[in-house]
Formats: sequence, C-alpha cells, structure tokens
Amino acid sequence: MPVTIHKDGPLCGGTLVDIRTDHMSYVFGINERGVLQHLHWGLPVAGRELGDRLRPLRYSSFDAELEREMEEYTFWGGAFYGEPGLKVRFADGVRDLRMKVTDVLVDADRGRDRLVLTLKDEHYDLTVRLFYRVFPELDLIERHAEAVNGGSDDIVLEQFLSAAWPLPACAKYRFTHVAGRWAGEYQLRETFLSEGKKVLESRGGFTGPHTNPWFAVDDGRADESSGGVWFGALGWSGNWKIVAELSSFGHARVSGGINDFDSEWRLRPGESFTTPVFTGGFSPAGFGGMSRSLHRYQRDEVLPSRSLRKVLYNSWEATYFDVHAQGQIELARIAAKMGVERFVVDDGWFGARNHDRAGLGDWTVNPAKFPDGLGALIAEVKALGMDFGIWVEPEAVNPDSDLYRRHPDWVYHFPNRPRTELRNQLLLNITKPEVKQYILDFMCRLLGEHDISFIKWDMNRTFTEPGLAGVPVEQQKEIWIRHVQSLYAIWAELRAKFPHVEFETCAGGGARIDLGMLRYADQSWPSDNTDAFDRLRIQEGFSYAYHPRIMMCWVTDSPHGMNGRSLPLSFRFHSAMTGALGIGGNLKAWTEEEIREAAAHIATYKEIRPLVQDGSQYRLSSFRHSPLMAVQYVNADRTDSVVFAFRHAQQFGGRLPALRLAGLDEHKKYEVSASGESPVIMHGGTLMNAGVPLSLRGDFDSVLLRVRAAE
Ligand code: GLA
Repeated sequence: MPVTIHKDGPLCGGTLVDIRTDHMSYVFGINERGVLQHLHWGLPVAGRELGDRLRPLRYSSFDAELEREMEEYTFWGGAFYGEPGLKVRFADGVRDLRMKVTDVLVDADRGRDRLVLTLKDEHYDLTVRLFYRVFPELDLIERHAEAVNGGSDDIVLEQFLSAAWPLPACAKYRFTHVAGRWAGEYQLRETFLSEGKKVLESRGGFTGPHTNPWFAVDDGRADESSGGVWFGALGWSGNWKIVAELSSFGHARVSGGINDFDSEWRLRPGESFTTPVFTGGFSPAGFGGMSRSLHRYQRDEVLPSRSLRKVLYNSWEATYFDVHAQGQIELARIAAKMGVERFVVDDGWFGARNHDRAGLGDWTVNPAKFPDGLGALIAEVKALGMDFGIWVEPEAVNPDSDLYRRHPDWVYHFPNRPRTELRNQLLLNITKPEVKQYILDFMCRLLGEHDISFIKWDMNRTFTEPGLAGVPVEQQKEIWIRHVQSLYAIWAELRAKFPHVEFETCAGGGARIDLGMLRYADQSWPSDNTDAFDRLRIQEGFSYAYHPRIMMCWVTDSPHGMNGRSLPLSFRFHSAMTGALGIGGNLKAWTEEEIREAAAHIATYKEIRPLVQDGSQYRLSSFRHSPLMAVQYVNADRTDSVVFAFRHAQQFGGRLPALRLAGLDEHKKYEVSASGESPVIMHGGTLMNAGVPLSLRGDFDSVLLRVRAAE
C-alpha cells in the first residue's frame, strides 16, 4: 500500500501520512498547531518513527512558526513570509487564510492510489483539496490543488500554486535547470542555492524558450548513475513559475505552478478552480535514474498515444515560403526513395503567405500554389507510400490578412495602446467563443476534407498588451489562464474528433514543451536550430526532462544555414537518430550518393527505433565535460542496445578513453558491431566497467554501435 495514514483517534495533531514507493519515502503530518508539517522526502524510512518530530519549531518571537517553512502547502496568513501556495482576497477585504485539515482519505484515481487532504478556512466558506497521486514503480507523485468557493461572495485567488516540495536537510543544495533562447534552447545550468530565492518562470504567455518548468536538486555530489536527486516537472503551458527558496534556518523547498505575475482568478459562489499538475520524484540513482523515471512516466502516463514516431520529411528548410505543388511532389519522390514514412508541408501553403508578413489567419489553400488543391498533392504522397502532414499556427494572425481586416477586435489588445507586432503578427483572443470556433471550424474543415495524418501546431510569438476586450476590468487578469484553458480545449476536441491524427507541439522551436502540452501532443519540436552539433547539447538538456521519443530531430543541409558549419552526413544522421528521426534538407540538391547513404541510415533507424523510442536511455558522456558525447538505449530485457558516440575535435593526437556502457547484464555476452569494423564479443561487465575502445578521429566523427546479446 503506497499511502498509509497513522492516526490514533480523530484527525488531530499527531496524524502522520506515510507515502512509500519502491525507492522513496515521503512523510508528513499534522502538528499540534494544525500545520501540515513535512518530515522526510528521500530514501525509504519507517515513517511512523518520525512521529515525535512533528512539533512546532520556534527560534525567536520574530520567527515564531518556523515549521511553516516546511509546510506541505502554504496558505498565506498569520506569521508566514515564504512563497505562498494559496493567497486570496475575500469580498470584505480580508487577505488572510486560516486553513484547518478536516479530512484525510485515500482513494483511487485512474488506477493509482491517491491521497486527498481537505482543508477548510475557519471562518469563510473556502475549501481546498490537496491531491497526491502515487506511482510506486516510478518513485513519482503527481500533486495538484483545488479551491472551492462554498460561500455567497466572490473570492479572488491572487496566487494558487500546484504544490511545494520541501527538501531534506543538506549542507549544500545544487539546483539544476535549463536555460536558453530561440535556436539555443535546453542548455543545462546548475547553481548552488544560498539564502533567498531562485525563480524560474515564464511571463511570455507560453512555456517559453528561456527556461522550462523542470528542476532537479541534489547535494552537489550526484552524477549520472549515483546519488540522490529530487526533481519536479510542471504541466502548464502558459505563464508559470518554479521558486526554490532557502531560508535563513536552512529549510529548502521548491514551489511551483501558474505564475501569479499579473494574474488573478475570480472564484464565484459555487465555483472551483483546479491547478495544473506538478509531478515530483526522487531518484537514488543520479540524474540518469531521474530522466528514465520521467521518460517512462511520459510514455506510460502522459502522452496521448503509445505509437512509435514515423520518419518524416519536412520541407521548411528546403523551400521556406516558396511552397508549390510541383516542387513538393519532387521532394516527396526523393523522400519516398529514401524510406521516409510521412511527408509534411510547412508554412506557406495558405492565403497570401508568401513571406512572414502576410496571410497568417487565412486558412484556405493558395490556388496559385496548389492549382489542383491540396488533395492532389496528398494523393501523390499517398501513392508514394507515405502519409501526409501539414503546418498550422492557429493562435496568431498577420495584420495583413483578410481575417484581421474583418475582425481587428479578435486580437489581444488594450485600448489607447499600440499593438506590438512580433514576427509581424498579433495573437488571437482564443478566449472569445467565436474565435475559438473559427479555429475549430477551419481545423475540422482541413482535417475533414483531406487525408491528413499529422499536424505541426506552431506558435511564433509571446504575448504583449494582454487585454481582453469586452471582459469586466476585474477579470482582465484571467487572460493568462484562459488562453491556456482554451488552447487545451481546442486540442482535446480535435483529438477526439480526429483520433487518427497525430500532433506536434512547436513554438518557434521548443518554446511550448511541458507536461501539460504533452497530454495532447504526440511529439515536439525542440529547436529551430538543426545544426547536428549544436543540437547534441540541446538534445542532451532536453533529455533530462523529456522522452527521446517526443524529440523530433531533422537531418538538414551542410554547410548549415544558421552557422555555416559543415558536418558529415553520417554525423548529421547519428545526431538526429538519437530522437525521433526526420529529414529537413533540400533533397533536390543532394547527390545520388548522399541519397543512397541517407536511405541506409533510415533503414538502420527503423531497426533501432524501438530501442530509441521505447527503451531506456543512458547518457554516457557529455560535451560539457569531455570531447566525447555518447548516449545509449537499452531494451527492457537488456538483450539489445544501441550506442551513439560523437567526437568534437581531436587535439594533439589525443586518444579517447574507452567508452563505458550502461544498462546491460554484466553476466551476459554481447556482440558489439559498428559499420565497417569486425564485431567483437564481450561480457556486459567488461563493456560497462572497462568500456569499448572507440576509433573516432579528427573533427566531427561519429559512430553507431549495435550491442546485442550473443547467446
Ligand atoms: C517556426 C517553426 C519552424 C517553421 C517556421 C515556419 O519558426 O519553429 O519549424 O515551422 O515557424 O514559419
């Protein structure tokens, strides 16, 4: 039983909650002041033995309720000065919460044990429920909260976070996260916490490219395969924040949820509000263990489908806005010859979209570019044995479009203020029912009238002038939440109506990838930077939190359009084969020999695809510490594995140390093979402890090793 409640009589001070998973205990209780006092999170303990630690803490009259720094969830009121979970404004102006636990129960939710704590305010009719859904085999807990207004006046939620994760006492807290920017997303960063706060957040209206709602904390000594790592990932695709705070008394916690910046939610009588889910976990096996647990969680519990990703071709970098039926057919013929399974037409197929300054919002097929309609191209693509996908950006509009000329009031804006254009576009107010309907209508037409199997849904600008025309002033700040709710509702409806269509989440690259979006999207576009060398670092950071299966990676042209770097075709393929493989180059300029080589790589990818997309991932070596980057994927019964290794630049004739593999059975014998080299047979123990010598030479060399059980 993963959740045990220890109580001797009625609910009161002394009640203990003991959550136990395969490798983790999470223990808290109600102390005599009624505070939900956290006691332990980490390696397993006998929770009951912590009962006598459940007592108020005090340092001085200035710091009188110190245990509130380790409260499971904090309600702003009384003597509390940290990051609040919930902060409200009652109709009479009172801004102080006195919440008392009234019920603790364990039930089941979608096949998992769930703990539900109910708290009520002492005076006002406000109920809050805290939920903990437990995944024993993954050492994860999903947490979220719900507020219910049972009174007869409005209650304004000024801040309502999903959860707080109190951390165990530790001499040092190393905080790991990702940072970045357009074309350079998911760069790993680490910092030691000192007293005060470290805040990761988005205020741009979507998840954002500058950081991502995921964190990890350790004591500074964990590595890929050992040491305790505490981590969390938030499922929200709008403004969010994650706050790590270390108090002057050494208490550390990480809180997170919807960003309170410029945000309020008015709870009318009888209404409730539910926060997004914040999933937290503990890995006793370092950062690798953390990632594998998050990966399995996404694959088994979050993503909308279990199907493997198809090898796709996308014509964006080949044609940009110069999309024509004939040119696309020519590309499709070459792609089919190479073994591509899905052909995707990107931006530029609709309205007057000949550049990024016009046409966005006018979702009718451009007849000059597709004289026989989209259907004719789709028929060709299908005849070539591929399925068809298409790009859309439904939330945005160019001012130079028929849609905007018809409905200038359909965008977010403030009166008496200019409308800031980013990438020459404005954002549609999808919280308006008629705008939401417009999007649903054109998407249903597009998907209903054409044989389309895949949608790449883009979103290429941040929010500015967040005004909700026509909505009462006191609800204007709900825009940040309402946009995301409406977006999720649109995706949910489309997925229900078109269950055979798969979706990719894209936002000018990887700016909208999070556990919220991944409940609707089958895959994601991590970055517009397709340079295979830059990508390796982006993909490494991505892999800390997200599954390789959802990481779409294209092989594009060399020299690369963004940075002029030339890379061998094999290096470009190997880099892209570590995720969901796609091709994005101008195939018409590829030589016959390159096309033959590409076909061979694609055939290999199809063989190893179940390992990459369904196996366990081990990061073996990183460019952050070494001239070698290497990553391995292993199947569930440890009989089959693939390793990719990349060398940056060889200096002074230096040799690489042997590459130590992971995840194998030490007693089994494996055959290790690389193209062009004779296979060798070694025990798993030798491969993991002494390693495989690599013959990577010069600059940008790479290898794919196949490691298969030999008996
Ligand atoms: C964004 C996407 C690209 C491409 C362009 C099209 O930048 O990230 O992949 O689709 O838009 O305009």
